[in-house]
Amino acid sequence: MGPDGVLKITDYPFTKTWAALEKLHESGKAKAIGVSNFSVKTLEELLRTAKIVPADNQVELHPYLIQEDLVNYCKERGITVTAYAPTGYKVVRENPLIIELAEKYKVTSTQVILAWHLARGVAVVPGSKNPEHQKENINLPTLEAEDVKRISALNRNERLSNKPVNGMMHGCTVEQLGW
Ligand SMILES: NC(=O)c1ccc[n+]([C@@H]2O[C@H](COP(=O)([O-])OP(=O)(O)OC[C@H]3O[C@@H](n4cnc5c(N)ncnc54)[C@H](OP(=O)(O)O)[C@@H]3O)[C@@H](O)[C@H]2O)c1
Repeated sequence: MGPDGVLKITDYPFTKTWAALEKLHESGKAKAIGVSNFSVKTLEELLRTAKIVPADNQVELHPYLIQEDLVNYCKERGITVTAYAPTGYKVVRENPLIIELAEKYKVTSTQVILAWHLARGVAVVPGSKNPEHQKENINLPTLEAEDVKRISALNRNERLSNKPVNGMMHGCTVEQLGW
């Protein structure tokens, strides 16, 4: 972090950070090690030198950013995927298709969206300060395959949580991140 509060790119490669995490794992201090915000591009770079395949990759995922290639890439390599910002916030909850399906399954929009993630084999970490919402979020319907496909078709490759500013995010360019 620079004195201006802006994250700066360092020339320290994340492969070295990963090697340090591998040592922690080997020492028994960490039972599992994983990554966040990795793309196919950065995972390929990591896996070139990694001794341990990441247990999990936590990335932004919701019906407007379905990241199909990344989810499949991870599945093929035994990397579980966890969705952050899984609800897609109000803008996705209020999408007409999501509302239609909430009526069909007699649940809320959030429950439809979270059920869609589970149908794709993706874990979710919804954030909620509301006890009623928390209860909702662990009682999910099973969606029909056709409805899963219809929700996936809402994809816009649109980031709603970590939106790059001037092509930058977390001190990196979107090209470096493979976003
Ligand atoms: N690795 C990363 O770079 C990264 C980036 C962003 C977030 N995350 C993590 O991902 C987790 C979730 O992310 P997030 O909080 O941004 O996204 P989110 O879980 O999709 O959205 C949280 C919002 O959804 C509302 N909500 C949750 N359940 C609801 C329900 N059943 N009905 C209506 N509204 C509902 C919450 O309001 P109420 O509190 O009122 O329920 C809150 O405003 C957090 O643990 C966060 O730390 C990780």
